[in-house]
Amino acid sequence: MTAMQPIAFEQRPHVLVLGNEKGGSGKSTAAMHVIVGLLREGYRVAALDLDARQGTLLRHLQARAAFSAARGVPLPQPEAGAVHPSQAENRAEAARQDEEQLAAAIAAFGAAEFLVIDCPGADTALSRAAHARADTLITPINDSFVDFSMLATVDPDDHRVISPSIYSEMVWEARKARFARDRGRLDWIVMRNRLGAAEARNKRDVGATLEALAKRIGFRTVRGFGERVIFRELYLQGLTLMDLKEAGIADRLSMSHVAARQEVRTLLAAIRKGPPGDVWGRARQGAALAPAGAGS
Ligand SMILES: Nc1ncnc2c1ncn2[C@@H]1O[C@H](COP(=O)(O)OP(=O)(O)O)[C@@H](O)[C@H]1O
Ligand SMILES: [Mg+2]
Repeated sequence: MTAMQPIAFEQRPHVLVLGNEKGGSGKSTAAMHVIVGLLREGYRVAALDLDARQGTLLRHLQARAAFSAARGVPLPQPEAGAVHPSQAENRAEAARQDEEQLAAAIAAFGAAEFLVIDCPGADTALSRAAHARADTLITPINDSFVDFSMLATVDPDDHRVISPSIYSEMVWEARKARFARDRGRLDWIVMRNRLGAAEARNKRDVGATLEALAKRIGFRTVRGFGERVIFRELYLQGLTLMDLKEAGIADRLSMSHVAARQEVRTLLAAIRKGPPGDVWGRARQGAALAPAGAGS
């Protein structure tokens, strides 16, 4: 008699997509921090840059390798790649090629536990295809009604939500496509980035409106990163807030940086936790998402 086999989970990475339809809202910054945060927790992580035109994520990773080599400091690195949009003239054909390229790239990273995909800040076929494969979607928004308009149309007087707008509709389509393919559910997290910059009253209003919208269109909110100059410096050196000790700049660690690191950990915890009452998510958490080893 054979022992009962544990439920087999499909061997594929948990796909984490950073997306929205605005440039400069913090997708690549958040992607990089999530990648290094997960690596430091001991997970096998892969990174895919779909914003190859900007190439922010890959350049950040190249700077990281260069820093590590120049200083002789070992820094954890993900496997990384990029997918360029199809140049086919026919739109349907281009979308088909994009879909195929993306599927091939995901398959190539089959040994990873997490695949972090950084999207361009525009509605492209490649970005849509990635959204339709996401297990977790993280949408950073700057804390203002300007960024909010990508999620919903809001009454200018009382800030009531009038209707979902373009990006929310795209996510809705992605959810349907995902469910049709493998019954998978997309866990959508909206992350408020650069907190502290906006004036207090506007911040409160955005928060309240966002919570109202969250219930209506199905996302969770997470407190994101504060407005901090250090993000720009770290980018140039290929570092993240999780590398300050190894990089030998820990003595410059101020209280503000300790708080910043905590913000990254809060985001990582929110990703792992999954949406409330999501049994499927919890099952995955217990199986596929168990750490590979102690923080390396
Ligand atoms: N919380 C933050 N505080 C300060 N600067 C930030 C913060 N988040 C992002 N930035 C900066 O804003 C710029 C755009 O961020 P980026 O992550 O590249 O956005 P996206 O990928 O959405 O276009 C970068 O220079 C980045 O360093
Ligand atoms: Mg970017």
